[in-house]
Amino acid sequence: MMVKVLFVCLGNICRSPMAEAIFAHEVQQRGLSDQVLCESAGTADYHPGDPPDERSLKILKNHGIETRQLARQVTPDDFFNFDYILAMDQKNLSALLDLRDTLNSPSASLCLMDAYNPNHDVNDIPEDIPDPYWSQDDGFEAVFNLLEPSCKNLLDVIVEEHLSGGA
Ligand code: 4NP
Repeated sequence: MMVKVLFVCLGNICRSPMAEAIFAHEVQQRGLSDQVLCESAGTADYHPGDPPDERSLKILKNHGIETRQLARQVTPDDFFNFDYILAMDQKNLSALLDLRDTLNSPSASLCLMDAYNPNHDVNDIPEDIPDPYWSQDDGFEAVFNLLEPSCKNLLDVIVEEHLSGGA
């Protein structure tokens, strides 16, 4: 079985490629590359084919993570090809919900990335991963620090729900 995860932001050059790279790194570290696949995409097509923002690449490199992601826009097919679609913020989520509404029986489960943040209480409302594009480098570090625990927790949940092979 292959579980497929898609991380989505606006431009697909700052937040979602970072989430994808962190998650892919964790998948590899746990030896799950044959069972869990991830990609990322943007609700906009501002940067098709572009590598991630240099500032995202720098933060990832500081944490020993590399990526060869190239930006692409979300497509209707994504709602049928992926099991989980994680939106970085409420605006991305709204755009994804609008697209999903036009489709016939889409199968992907869709929610905010921060819904998987293990540092929140169950009653907390998921927050946006703030758009760092216009920020300084510290905005990118803050994004990394929000994404890393959520990526690890999301993978825990996927293993638990799909891969643990329990009776
Ligand atoms: P991202 O950040 O959605 O995290 O990739 C942005 C990247 C580019 C733009 C906005 C946000 N832009 O306006 O080009």
